[in-house]
Amino acid sequence: MRVDVRGVHKYFDTTTSKLRVLENVDLQVEKGEFIAIMGPSGSGKSTLLFLLGCLDVPTFGHIFLDEADVTEEPESVRERIRLHHIGFIFQNYNLIPTLDALENVRLPMQLAGVRANERDARSMALLRLVGMDVKADEPVNNLSGGQQQRVAIARALANLPGLVLADEPTGNLDIRSSKEVMDVIRTVNENQDITTIVVTHDPKVAAYANRVYYLEDGRLRATVL
Ligand SMILES: Nc1ncnc2c1ncn2[C@@H]1O[C@H](COP(=O)(O)OP(=O)(O)O)[C@@H](O)[C@H]1O
Ligand SMILES: [Mg+2]
Repeated sequence: MRVDVRGVHKYFDTTTSKLRVLENVDLQVEKGEFIAIMGPSGSGKSTLLFLLGCLDVPTFGHIFLDEADVTEEPESVRERIRLHHIGFIFQNYNLIPTLDALENVRLPMQLAGVRANERDARSMALLRLVGMDVKADEPVNNLSGGQQQRVAIARALANLPGLVLADEPTGNLDIRSSKEVMDVIRTVNENQDITTIVVTHDPKVAAYANRVYYLEDGRLRATVL
């Protein structure tokens, strides 16, 4: 999926003032590219990712995903885009703790109405891809952080998205698990041509990307590696 952010501003109204989080952000990401976004805490990285993921709308400006201006679409369409075309990976994994690994991966396919036998086959294949097929029947509560994040990556891929958005995916992981998780994200990006945008504090994580951007004082700028 191609991502084209044009002149995006995002303001939040607080009781006392207007918080200007993003100021005139432009960003173009070609299909299959892998980019990283860095920046201080509170600089608006998650806000930008939420906008890209159709979880929120800009105050001004436009976001095109492929040809569609998603800022102009009604919520029902944006919801469908989220379910079918975007995979999310969060710092805290956001798995459903009472379900096992396979059930977690299967859930987005159930929501999308994928047929049962296809659903099971694809869930198992995705768990194999992230090296978690041996833990398919394990409640995710029993898994380590790195293992949970790999299940979360499989879940993000459930409906074969064109865009993967990861918000501090290694923020809670040790060095070894971080590397395992990032190796999986890179493999998916390269082998399946999925556009990948990762927000991170960690230069080792950012080094996986083709390009690195820095967000500060509401402005997004490209950095030289
Ligand atoms: N829904 C919201 N309402 C009001 N303020 C918000 C909201 N979401 C984020 N903010 C504020 O916007 C700023 C950027 O937040 P965020 O995007 O989470 O930063 P980062 O992910 O870079 O740490 C912060 O000051 C935060 O408090
Ligand atoms: Mg954040």
